[in-house]
Amino acid sequence: MNKPFGNDDRKLAAYVASVYVPEDHVLREIRERSTRAGLPDIQLAALDARHLEVLARAVAARKAVEIGTLGGYSGVAILRGMGPDGVLDTIDIDAKHAEIARESFRQAGLAKQARVHVGAAAQVLPRLAGRGPFDLCFIDADKEGYPDYLRWAAENLRIGGLVVLDNAFLFGRLPKRPAGEHAAAIAAMQATHDLLAHGGHFRSTVLPTGEGLAVGVKI
Ligand SMILES: C[S@@+](CC[C@H](N)C(=O)[O-])C[C@H]1O[C@@H](n2cnc3c(N)ncnc32)[C@H](O)[C@@H]1O
Repeated sequence: MNKPFGNDDRKLAAYVASVYVPEDHVLREIRERSTRAGLPDIQLAALDARHLEVLARAVAARKAVEIGTLGGYSGVAILRGMGPDGVLDTIDIDAKHAEIARESFRQAGLAKQARVHVGAAAQVLPRLAGRGPFDLCFIDADKEGYPDYLRWAAENLRIGGLVVLDNAFLFGRLPKRPAGEHAAAIAAMQATHDLLAHGGHFRSTVLPTGEGLAVGVKI
């Protein structure tokens, strides 16, 4: 490794944020309103939301699925990358999160393009399959579900479509042997990386963001 993986340099991060301005007033309002409503502060970092918007633009996405809506922060980023005829199906198990997200899509002027589904992703995803093939699938929910969500993406993305997975470093636990209270999540994330790297469906990489953003293009 002749270059470090990731770059933990706050000055560099501040410089990039000041030049690219990844969080505008709409995204800031979503983040702040979500916090006021008591949602956990676990939405994407602003620059990661911009990554998502740029990735959606790069594949000219028109149909996307998101697993893990929260307050709609990342969903707005995806929709911004899809243009006026893009449609996002986004899933959250928590009805309160879905309600906040619906308001976020309204505030962002994107309500007509966002379908918010309440339920466990494992139950909702099979119902969405008929609307595919999709151009982009963003996975950002329960880590134990990642291998199944990735398999769903492999089946329901078009060739050239993207799967994007947040928290690919699993908060620093990824390289550990599965054990203890996080054993199931560690095993699931390791299985996800194996599938992404060697499953035969994707050509993939991991972008060295703070959380690790895994990206695969369907081949
Ligand atoms: C990290 S947050 C999503 C953040 C969001 N993508 C963003 O950046 O704005 C994870 C979300 O997944 C939802 N979730 C957890 N388990 C789920 C499941 N089995 N099915 C669907 N949603 C789930 C949680 O309720 C939570 O809102």
